[in-house]
Amino acid sequence: MRATQTALDETLLTTLFESLGQEAHAQRFEVAPNPCVGAAVLAGDRVLSRGFHRVWGGPHAEVEALALAAESGVPQDEWTTLAVTLEPCSSVGKQPACTEAILRSGIRRVIVGAVDPDPRSRGAGIQRLREAGLQVDLFEGVSTLDRVTPHFVQWTSPDRMRRPRPWTIAKWAQTRSGHLIPPAEVGGGRWISGPASLDEVHVLRGRVDAIVTGISTVLADDPRFSVRPPGDPSKPPIRVVLDSVLRTPPNARLFQPKEPHEGLGGLHILYQAGTNAERYRLLEAAGAKLVGLHVDDNDHVSLWDVQAYLWQLGVRRVLLESGPILLSRYLDHGFVDQVRVYTGNVSGGRGETLGPRLAQMRFEERADRETGGDAVLEAFLYD
Ligand SMILES: NC(=O)c1ccc[n+]([C@@H]2O[C@H](COP(=O)([O-])OP(=O)(O)OC[C@H]3O[C@@H](n4cnc5c(N)ncnc54)[C@H](OP(=O)(O)O)[C@@H]3O)[C@@H](O)[C@H]2O)c1
Repeated sequence: MRATQTALDETLLTTLFESLGQEAHAQRFEVAPNPCVGAAVLAGDRVLSRGFHRVWGGPHAEVEALALAAESGVPQDEWTTLAVTLEPCSSVGKQPACTEAILRSGIRRVIVGAVDPDPRSRGAGIQRLREAGLQVDLFEGVSTLDRVTPHFVQWTSPDRMRRPRPWTIAKWAQTRSGHLIPPAEVGGGRWISGPASLDEVHVLRGRVDAIVTGISTVLADDPRFSVRPPGDPSKPPIRVVLDSVLRTPPNARLFQPKEPHEGLGGLHILYQAGTNAERYRLLEAAGAKLVGLHVDDNDHVSLWDVQAYLWQLGVRRVLLESGPILLSRYLDHGFVDQVRVYTGNVSGGRGETLGPRLAQMRFEERADRETGGDAVLEAFLYD
């Protein structure tokens, strides 16, 4: 229901909230599982600035709008209203609370497009602002959550909250037939996508809390899972290897010290508790943190245990960079929330193809684009 005790023209607000919602939604794959949010600062009925939540862990929309309003040249005491598609946050997370930034700005009125669906914070931001003496009006029905940020409705649903697990982005490169391993004679038997795609992956790595892989990828590729420019190496994700019987070689590149200009997170090897004490000591001495978990029916470490371990570490956004075996297990469990698939200009390949599986997946909010010579598919996979 729309509450419009507003001196601002309803048509202006409708147009404003519609455009803020659309532009915010365009950032969905960058911010998930955070919400897509747009905000604007007004002086009377003049829009001074528009801000958006653009990147997971980055500044919130209100903060960007306020910063840009400061650059507009209009004195702060003339700012009258902040319009925002989602109730401002009132608690400190990766970013400071937006309510406090709004209070500091001197703005006296806030118009909110939707109340926070998260039961732990619903209404708290509005209450904080009202208690501080601001006028807060709801303008519901235009930038609705199901249009602007449906993934956030899933993320805050009772089902998800009952058994919390990190938001998981599965990223893989495939040939045109859906193989993750190219023919032996292509790309050194390893590379499918081009340098532009690899640059994007480094950016993505810099925006997650953890990278997860399977032991067979470690054995086949000897990867490092570092963050290099253009990615932000300042807060690198932890690197997590699922290795049930501790086959990780202690001389793998994963253990080599950090090089200049790269970000290298801690190495966690998740294995079957009680297995091979000698390997345990070797890998621990090499610098890994070893975590013993239960095994599943197939004698691999239990993905439920993996999720619980990562969650209790504070990991909220995971990048899965594995081969087809572990990726398929994640998909079987319904543990993949988002995909980024690079399809290179390569035919055929080795190992299992994900082609038929991909053809049957129900993608939500799918977007297709190109980078370098590769096709890129991004989508959500929530039920
Ligand atoms: N194109 C791409 O994007 C891409 C990305 C990564 C890798 N690759 C390629 O993929 C190949 C390796 O793929 P892969 O499918 O053989 O290996 P993988 O998926 O990387 O790793 C599979 C292994 O992970 C371990 N694992 C631990 N817990 C598991 C669980 N719950 N479920 C499933 N596996 C679990 C298993 O070994 P244990 O039981 O011994 O633990 C399993 O054999 C390499 O050639 C690599 O180059 C391609």
